Amino acid sequence: MQEAIILVGGKGTRLRPLTNHTPKPLLEVAGSSFIRHQVAKLMDAGVEHVVFATSYLAALFEEEFRDFTQDLEISYAVEEVPLGTGGAIRNAGRLLRAGADAPVLVLNGDILSGVDLRAVLRRHEDREADVTLHLTRVPDPRAFGLVPTDEAGRVLSFLEKPKTPQECVTDQINAGCYVFRRSVLDAVPGDREVSVEQETFPRLVARGGRVFGHTTDDYWRDLGTPLAFVHGSADLVTGRATSPLVGPPAEALIHPTAEVHPTARVTGGSTVGARAVIGPRVVVDRSIIGAGVTLAEGALIHESVVDHDSAIGSGSVLREAVVGCHARVGAENELPAQLRLACGIDIPARGVRLSGTAAACPTIH
Ligand code: GTP
Repeated sequence: MQEAIILVGGKGTRLRPLTNHTPKPLLEVAGSSFIRHQVAKLMDAGVEHVVFATSYLAALFEEEFRDFTQDLEISYAVEEVPLGTGGAIRNAGRLLRAGADAPVLVLNGDILSGVDLRAVLRRHEDREADVTLHLTRVPDPRAFGLVPTDEAGRVLSFLEKPKTPQECVTDQINAGCYVFRRSVLDAVPGDREVSVEQETFPRLVARGGRVFGHTTDDYWRDLGTPLAFVHGSADLVTGRATSPLVGPPAEALIHPTAEVHPTARVTGGSTVGARAVIGPRVVVDRSIIGAGVTLAEGALIHESVVDHDSAIGSGSVLREAVVGCHARVGAENELPAQLRLACGIDIPARGVRLSGTAAACPTIH
């Protein structure tokens, strides 16, 4: 029986306020929670038992899968205190049934990837590895820890983020998908916080463990930041990235109960949730519009997320913005890029502008 673990216990701080009430893996991308895309991919790769390593808002995962009827067994390993990626893997390992030599797939719960999981498993078996890591190549490696390998794909070291060009010895980075030999996974301490990248893997390499990389140029994106999150969702809709849960490539994914005015344009792989109302001449580009959201006439929403039950007034402009749920943005606001609006916030009409004239001063001088 092929088994897998998905790491889903992080707080997702970089995606606040979206993650204030919803763990990152349960946020919707391209019409389904992200974890459902991952589960579908695991099932396609022949996985029959998956353990969710949960901690932050753990109960919501059981709620999400309460009515799951497909042919996959789901277990939950809940950490009272987050144990880090390594501790979480060990803690989830208690619920596996595989033998000591069996390969166990482990996925980070926030990576959208086109990698062929069966190929990673094959590579692991061929090399008789202790751990096999999926590695991806990035154009600018300076923001990442690097993973150089030798000609046979054996991992040489795990390097900190490079500070100088000389330290950029490879463009390969850890892609957040691993295969562990069960006995190796069982040897990770499970009673304290441990990072696989900073502790488990480097120690294994230093001890001469058989750690291999499987490097590919498949689609890969870490959905941990707001912009990456909207881009990942849009890529699934337009077909740049694939998931068994998404239909043929499209310009937008609009829920059947949403109302979109005929003069509105919804483009670039945007999604529009249930009961949302998109008014005349609105433009929504490469964005995620949540359930029950209202966008009034002439609003422009670009590379942004508007969480459920919020309202954006007429003529308002959002670029690379994140609007929490139940927020109100009055008419003709122009929000600066990368702004995050808290859940329930209320911005009056013309309250924030980057250009043009601000509202007249209401006080009498
Ligand atoms: P940020 O707070 O925005 O950095 O996000 P995060 O909390 O998700 O952290 P990060 O992106 O580094 O985590 C990578 C993956 O590991 C995500 O899928 C997390 O859910 C998961 N993860 C991180 N820490 C833990 C932990 O302590 N326990 C468990 N079970 N999962 C974790």
